[in-house]
Amino acid sequence: MKMINILKYYSVLVLAILMAACQADKNSTEWVSYSGDKTIEARVDSVLRLMTLEEKIGQMNQYSGNFATTGALSDNQSGEYLKRGMIGSTFNVFGAEHVRMLQEQNLKHSRLKIPMLFAADVIHGLETTFPIPMAEACSWDLDLMEQTARAAAEEATASGVAWNFAPMVDISRDPRWGRVMEGAGEDVYLASEVAKARVKGFQGISHYSDLSKANTMMACAKHFVAYGAAQAGRDYHTVDLSDHSLYQTYLPPFKATVDAGVASFMTAFNDLNGVPCTANEYLFKDILREQWNFGGMVVTDYTAIMELVEHGVAKNLKDGAKQSLDAGIDMDMISEAFVTHLKELVEEGEISEDQIDVAVSRILEMKFLLGLFDDPYRYCDPEREKKVVMKPEYVELAHEAAKGSVVLLKNKNNTLPLQKNVSKKVALVGPFIKERESLNGEWAIKGNRDKSVTLYEGLTEKYKGSAVKLTYAKGTDLPLIDRATMKESVINIPDENGFAEAVGIAGSSDVILVAMGEHYHWSGEAACRTDIRLPGNQRALLKALKKTGKPIILVLFNGRPLDLSWEAQHVDAIVEAWYPGLMSGHAVADIIAGDYNPSARLVMSFPRNVGQIPVFYNAKNTGRPFDAKHPSDYKSSYIDVDNSPLYPFGYGLSYTSYAYSEVHLSASEMAMNGKVTVSLNVTNTGDMAGEEVVQLYIRDKVASISRPVKELKAFQKIALKKGETKQLSFTIDKEMLAFYNSDLQWVSEPGQFDIWVGSSSADESNHLVLDLLE
Ligand code: BGC
Repeated sequence: MKMINILKYYSVLVLAILMAACQADKNSTEWVSYSGDKTIEARVDSVLRLMTLEEKIGQMNQYSGNFATTGALSDNQSGEYLKRGMIGSTFNVFGAEHVRMLQEQNLKHSRLKIPMLFAADVIHGLETTFPIPMAEACSWDLDLMEQTARAAAEEATASGVAWNFAPMVDISRDPRWGRVMEGAGEDVYLASEVAKARVKGFQGISHYSDLSKANTMMACAKHFVAYGAAQAGRDYHTVDLSDHSLYQTYLPPFKATVDAGVASFMTAFNDLNGVPCTANEYLFKDILREQWNFGGMVVTDYTAIMELVEHGVAKNLKDGAKQSLDAGIDMDMISEAFVTHLKELVEEGEISEDQIDVAVSRILEMKFLLGLFDDPYRYCDPEREKKVVMKPEYVELAHEAAKGSVVLLKNKNNTLPLQKNVSKKVALVGPFIKERESLNGEWAIKGNRDKSVTLYEGLTEKYKGSAVKLTYAKGTDLPLIDRATMKESVINIPDENGFAEAVGIAGSSDVILVAMGEHYHWSGEAACRTDIRLPGNQRALLKALKKTGKPIILVLFNGRPLDLSWEAQHVDAIVEAWYPGLMSGHAVADIIAGDYNPSARLVMSFPRNVGQIPVFYNAKNTGRPFDAKHPSDYKSSYIDVDNSPLYPFGYGLSYTSYAYSEVHLSASEMAMNGKVTVSLNVTNTGDMAGEEVVQLYIRDKVASISRPVKELKAFQKIALKKGETKQLSFTIDKEMLAFYNSDLQWVSEPGQFDIWVGSSSADESNHLVLDLLE
């Protein structure tokens, strides 16, 4: 059965169960009014006092109202529990009418008329699909990311959704892992800034306590924590990490979401140093609640309590329920562990009702803050839905975001752009020229895949009536995967039958534009790869095209950094488009034609081959660093490949060029509580307006523990007209130079720091030294 049919099947099935459950009427009680000018605490308390233990536990129970996409089904007694008013939250039900219908049914059965909270994975847009999050992060444009998150929130809240399972803020340094596409890449500072922007955008307020404002939703920081550090890049795999790495690298983006007022957290599937995150008191009690003072709510990931048994830490589901509650978890997604076992555990004295009260209070607080007690149908206005969903401003924003996310990796001899007024015959080749369904990526669960603009459509519209003439041959297909069985059944293994036609049209053209990549099921959750080259026979097709001697432009659509070692050497231009979403074809066509000057920069390094992984710019120096200028034996290096990645973090080309003036430091020494300013001029020295991402990196030369060779500490994205110069300045203070020492204390230690300001993590042309005094 095709994926889409499976989804539809489950969708209908689960809704049918819920509907059937609702036929049985129950003695309904009158509405209880919880409004008034009381504080939220008093209002929460007024409800809590009326609740039976069972009703409280019901609030901690969450179902998917849609389908079982990302894991096993629990017993799924949702119909039963609905009849007893024991579902606190449902996710992935969309549409004002749909949500209204389920809410009505819930209220009919909930003795105390407690509204249900509707959640969803609105990862990069609801119906207006923006680029996948990693692509959008490559724009380094925080305002843009906040805007797309806000647009997603407007659409989602108009479609019944009040709680978003996003942003995903996991640091990822391993492109084998399919979920790198959901985050903001390898860097702590950038990922933290992006995390804040996304929380601000989704919630639209500065703290969750203001959730009562109209059209606002709860955001959810996920997956707490270190999910991206899974062994060998395999999803759900174990994580063994020093506390130091946890504090220095993996926690900061989550802390940033707390600072940005995020309303909820989701647990991670993985175990961390032997303790699965979903049962990890250290994470949720010591760090999240005590150190960070987080007052919002915590939900498990999908069936994560059930999985405690497989992890080998819980004897059974009941034991798992106890362990997760003890760890400070408030809501159980899918496992039916809380709803089945908490009552018994209270009766046996294994847990206390107070623990349950704490969790339920947090859940009720959110429902009050969202205004659901005042109006449970607040998010169910079909008129608003019609006006808001896919409104022209959002579609335009999707176009802007898609253009801003495309990274130009190579452009030998200015192969690009292909200007409209320059006469050229262009052969369009490859499985992604007309591919439509993959353009939204794996996580756009509500984005209509039929609506995304293909590259073919974008290019034909762009070059209509121009001097550029297009011909097309697919050449080969994309290999597909049956997600139900994954690796056992790679289906549709492409053959070479189309090569001859592709080579034929290429031979009679001036330039070949090839569009290749990964089908969207090849990245995302549970889509990890050990070979991250272009799948199938796409490289073979490139090799065949290369023989024509014509220049090749390669446009890539994929969800992870790929091994492009052969392509980087043999093709003339490489455009990394990722999955750009709804406006894919138009955005990429703008870049190809030079109507938009590429301005995105990588947020994850591209390895030279899979054996280099993990390769990231902010690594340690080692005691035997390799020095290319003075190579010698017994240094930290490989025999067969350089240490550096193929394309480093922060890298990306433009159609224009930028000149950096010498960098000036206001003082070469800085007192502990002082500040210094780094200033420089950047000039657009090329022929076209453009945007440059100016990046500031530091290195702590000597510290009490070894420090990375470089760390991004600030950046500015600036627009420069042709010939224009702008003066920029960055302020450095001791916070910027601080780190976690071996006692996990956040310290600034005196000493020397290297400072670089440049166009990527590999740009060392502008170097200064700063002395931080005692
Ligand atoms: C994913 C989460 C997602 C949840 C609900 C899980 O499999 O890990 O990121 O929010 O499913 O769809």
